[in-house]
Amino acid sequence: MKAKKVHILTYGCQMNVSDSEKISSSLRSVGYEPTGTIDDADMVILNTCSVRAKAEEKIYGILFTMKGELKKKPNLLIGVGGCVAQQEGEKLLAKVPHLNFVFGTHSLHLLPQMVRAAEGGRRVAETNFIDNDSRLDLFPSMGEAGGVTRFVTIMQGCDNYCSYCIVPYVRGREISRRAGDILEEIRIAADNGTREVTLLGQNVNSYGLKGGDGTDFATLLRRVSGIKGIERIRFMTSHPKDISSPLIQCFADMEKLCSHIHLPVQSGSDRVLSMMNRGYTRGEYLEKVALLRAARPDIHFTSDIIVGFPGEDEDDFQDTLSLMEEVSYADTYLFIYSPRPETIAAGMTDNTSRGEKQKRFDQLLDLQKRMSRKLHRSYIGKDLEVLVEGAGKHEGQVSGRSSGNRIVNFTGSLDMVGSIRSVRIVKDFQNSLLGEIH
Ligand code: SAH
Ligand code: SF4
Ligand code: F3S
Repeated sequence: MKAKKVHILTYGCQMNVSDSEKISSSLRSVGYEPTGTIDDADMVILNTCSVRAKAEEKIYGILFTMKGELKKKPNLLIGVGGCVAQQEGEKLLAKVPHLNFVFGTHSLHLLPQMVRAAEGGRRVAETNFIDNDSRLDLFPSMGEAGGVTRFVTIMQGCDNYCSYCIVPYVRGREISRRAGDILEEIRIAADNGTREVTLLGQNVNSYGLKGGDGTDFATLLRRVSGIKGIERIRFMTSHPKDISSPLIQCFADMEKLCSHIHLPVQSGSDRVLSMMNRGYTRGEYLEKVALLRAARPDIHFTSDIIVGFPGEDEDDFQDTLSLMEEVSYADTYLFIYSPRPETIAAGMTDNTSRGEKQKRFDQLLDLQKRMSRKLHRSYIGKDLEVLVEGAGKHEGQVSGRSSGNRIVNFTGSLDMVGSIRSVRIVKDFQNSLLGEIH
């Protein structure tokens, strides 16, 4: 029998990218091979994000256009997974009549039987949260594909309840994966050519506090560092309140740990940070930044910032602006506040106009662009160690990243993939660097 094909569309964060790999491999058991286009697909799966309203609206837009596909291919099956699926559950089946199945963030393991049911003409939704023992056995693995650089999930869920954030509601409680399972997976990846791993979780600094096997995050990093073949280690995301001294020490003495930390500040104003329930002050954040810089002088900071949180006034905004300058971020991901269902902030009074929020956003964006460009310009004439990941922007070029997570393109051949090369920077761009081997 001809293999059926599934086209998976992934939105949102790296968690979803990892989940999509898991979805792809689990669907093989029911006869579906992945395909890159919808044209030859027998089934389409949308793995969704609901962190901001826009992300959610996009899914409804795509589902609407699927109606056209169904005219051409009436037997096409459509499924929705991920965070919008978890949030909406059966309601999504009612809202979208041409949808066949809905599976939540804890239901990936049920997918094969749900697909069978959908093939039999049933419309099904599964959004129950599962217990912690089962979760430990069902952690998404890195999947089957190789790759020079890989993400490995070390924890799931979040217990922080930042007042604006839907993640704890759609991903469930925080739980850490067993260190032994993580290390085994990385060992196998390293044997298959992986040189860099990024340890992934909503808040990796609290790794081991819930679940796990007593190993804390700094110890986990050191054990990963001991794996032969792994040359670089990164992690994402760190909550500033949980940066510990042993972790800072890792930056001082662990060669394999890259000179980059994504440390989302969200706001530079104490008043707003408190309303956000972030658990740290501006001063405490800056203190952690200083300690990290002392441990690793060339460390690169990146951040997430929310503009226009309910009640944010001009003074609060100025505090954010000045903090950004003080830290001098290499990159910042900026978001205009979006009220999310179930969250505390959604009930707060918000009198700032959309126009004013946009103005603040543009100002922050402008500042970040200038800071990134200045940083990139400062590399000119310097050598960076680049782990080559694949083909570059132009013919005859390869591309990789520096320890500080800057993208570097340079003339080279694909047999360099997987090696670390010393590259002299000759030109700077807004989002990347051009170098040459000398
Ligand atoms: N766990 C990570 C990231 C979670 S979501 C962390 O704690 O940093 C990624 C980013 O989306 C957040 O850092 C935040 O800046 C942004 N975000 C989350 N909820 C939002 C909302 N309701 N409106 C606007 N931005 C939001
Ligand atoms: Fe959301 Fe806060 Fe958890 Fe990050 S730490 S996922 S922002 S609740
Ligand atoms: Fe989005 Fe869910 Fe990730 S809401 S950011 S896909 S955890």
